[in-house]
Amino acid sequence: MMFSGRLGIYARIRGLAGATAVLIWSCMPQSLYAADVFSGSEIYLMECSRCHGNQGRGDMAGGIDLSLGDGLRVSDEQLFRRIENGKGGCPSFFGILDEEQIQDVIAHLRTLY
Ligand code: HEC
Repeated sequence: MMFSGRLGIYARIRGLAGATAVLIWSCMPQSLYAADVFSGSEIYLMECSRCHGNQGRGDMAGGIDLSLGDGLRVSDEQLFRRIENGKGGCPSFFGILDEEQIQDVIAHLRTLY
């Protein structure tokens, strides 16, 4: 009895925290940033194409096709974290690309498939 009552309170607190987070997030200026696909394609050619090929299909010798595995079938947020943190042989771009540049690259990646 008391157990289920407590769960209810926790659920309500979580709901409130979630709503507050969404409110804060929607007020942040970054959320107004519109990714620039042209800048994204330039960054891609400079930073990514040597391993992934110009079209992201690993068209160069030993290149890595971005569509392998769950490659691009993930949300923008997950893609963002992967680019920032790196994965396996994919280098981390933390400190190399800023947040807006990563968003630009993601906008470009979305045009590849
Ligand atoms: C030094 C070579 C190299 C460079 C440069 C590189 N990558 Fe990768 N990338 C890899 C390798 C290797 C993998 C496969 C990683 C694995 O799954 O082990 C990969 C995988 C990926 C994946 C798929 C991740 C997954 O979850 O399977 C994405 C997306 C990706 N790279 C994006 C990028 C972007 C965007 C850039 C440029 C900002 C970039 N990579 C630059 C080597 C590179």
